[in-house]
Amino acid sequence: MAMCGAASRRGAEEIISAGRVTVNGEKICEQGVKVEIGADTVKLDGKVIKPSGKMFYIMLNKPVGYVTTVKDQFERPTVIDLVGPEINERIFPVGRLDYETEGLLLLTNDGDFTYKVTHPKHNIEKTYIAVLKGGITIKGLAQLRSGVKLDDGFMTSPAKVEMLDAENGHTTIKITIHEGKNRQVRRMFEAVGSKVKELQRVSIGTVELGNLPLGRWRHLTSHEINYLKNL
Ligand code: URA
Repeated sequence: MAMCGAASRRGAEEIISAGRVTVNGEKICEQGVKVEIGADTVKLDGKVIKPSGKMFYIMLNKPVGYVTTVKDQFERPTVIDLVGPEINERIFPVGRLDYETEGLLLLTNDGDFTYKVTHPKHNIEKTYIAVLKGGITIKGLAQLRSGVKLDDGFMTSPAKVEMLDAENGHTTIKITIHEGKNRQVRRMFEAVGSKVKELQRVSIGTVELGNLPLGRWRHLTSHEINYLKNL
């Protein structure tokens, strides 16, 4: 399923367990069933899926107000809606950005790539620009740099933190983290008594958003693809 771009490896396991996959007309719920490409017919939700051969690796500058899923249960706009008809394959997001977060999001139909880039063992650095409502204390900055305890008890690893600007009741901070816990950056600032007003992801490892306009996407360069595949 990962080769077909139908899901990431982890996503495929859930889809199979949910009974959404048939092989030659028979529903399968157990993992690891072998199929022969070309000979067996695999369907997901009643639609035939097969390896396309063509892999897409793109980056999107996600605006606020889009969900990072292929289909939203509340019918809200999704990041896939922003990718035009030029990508005629099922692609899906690599990791997540919150509804209210903007910036760099990778999308692909290569499930192995997704698995690799999102696997915690690679510890890939993600850099965000956070605009805080109000300020932050010196102690708060120091705590973020050494690691903070989130509301669920998770201890974050040391973050790189740089104050970029402070004016008119707002403070702009550049923060680089390694993990990818749910709403992690917002929760890290909450843990030190600050509130994030705006959040933008500007890089994943050495892959940078640069000046890609909001709501637009581009293909990754071969250099960027190779870098991410060889983490
Ligand atoms: N941290 C957050 O709080 N939100 C995101 O979307 C990504 C990281």
